[in-house]
Amino acid sequence: MREVSNVLVTGGLGFIGSAFMRFLFRTNAFTGRVVNLDLLTYAGNPDNVAGFVDESRYSFVRGDICDQQLVSRLCQEHAIDTIVNFAAESHVDRSIAGPGVFIQTNIVGTYSLLEVVRSFPSIHFHHVSTDEVYGSLGITGAFDEQSPYRPNSPYSASKAASDHLVRSYAHTFGISTTISNCSNNYGPFQFPEKLIPLMILNAVERKPLPVYGDGLNIRDWLYVDDHVEAIWTVICEGDRGATYNIGGKNEWTNIAIVEKIADLLGRIQREEPGQFRSLITFVKDRPGHDRRYAIDSNKLTNQLGWRARHDFEAGLDETIRWYLRNSQWISRVKTGAYRQWIKKNYDER
Ligand code: NAD
Ligand code: TYD
Repeated sequence: MREVSNVLVTGGLGFIGSAFMRFLFRTNAFTGRVVNLDLLTYAGNPDNVAGFVDESRYSFVRGDICDQQLVSRLCQEHAIDTIVNFAAESHVDRSIAGPGVFIQTNIVGTYSLLEVVRSFPSIHFHHVSTDEVYGSLGITGAFDEQSPYRPNSPYSASKAASDHLVRSYAHTFGISTTISNCSNNYGPFQFPEKLIPLMILNAVERKPLPVYGDGLNIRDWLYVDDHVEAIWTVICEGDRGATYNIGGKNEWTNIAIVEKIADLLGRIQREEPGQFRSLITFVKDRPGHDRRYAIDSNKLTNQLGWRARHDFEAGLDETIRWYLRNSQWISRVKTGAYRQWIKKNYDER
């Protein structure tokens, strides 16, 4: 069992990093301090941490994971013993439109963190990664930890490179690391460029629901709180230097998900059946679109006892209701008002 006192979370203003910190502040298993280092890119939303921003054990620093001096200073000043690296460019479509920043943050950023960890031998480094590093599956099978890396998008290639760097630094320099490769997440606070929140918000506004290609691509969906509990389990109990796959054994075609969202929303809003389904529009496919992901997380379950606790239908229903309840969060994201805090606190200084 690894002792975790003071944690440096990178990318904590994003979707999963903020859920991880919410978890840290509600679990009895953690009583230490959290420093959140985030660059405040378009995906970094201060509203995501509104629920615990006044917590005395929390502090926020705006900065880049590529800034080794800053990261070193934070590790020193806050007696950090664990770094959890969520910071990344995370959207495949953006990586196709402009790969450069993915190379910089995901690869150079991870390298920079690892360089710092080399000079703090007592720090454990957990790297949060994706199942997309393994490439695309046919109709059968699932990725396990032995599956070869075959990334297909600039996003997954940059994450694959970062995983390799972590592995090599553990092997060559003896630093303490763990890596987790997780399937697609969904839940509250997800930026509405990703499939599930995009479809919910478009449907609410009666806008088209754009399904890429034939809609038969398959993803393995996991509720974000199940993911952060798995990360915590790996950090505390995972073998040093090991990799763990995380998934929910929950495969769906994209079209089935979009239909599900349409039907659940119809029920919640007491609409005529089929109202929201009529918004579904098939659009041009994503270049290089991976056909199927599926994760075998037996290692994590058998060795460390983790299993997903959220049922998909219930999780999706909860997520839709969260977006319906949080119209202010949505409008601040849509209008860009969530960036005003950044302007006021940083850019205008
Ligand atoms: P996100 O895009 O919501 O958040 C990324 C955060 O990183 C933002 O707050 C952003 O401001 C910050 N950031 C970006 N560049 C930075 C830099 N150079 N320095 C410091 N901070 C920076 O991403 P997410 O969906 O929360 O994903 C978090 C991690 O989990 C990523 O590493 C991603 O690859 C991985 N992952 C995501 C999923 C998913 O379904 N979303 C699944 C598996 C793994
Ligand atoms: P996304 O949420 O971008 O995650 P990823 O590409 O990392 O799996 O997309 C999930 C799936 O949904 C993927 O197969 C692409 C598809 N998709 C659409 O069909 N329409 C959309 O508007 C988006 C954003 C995604």
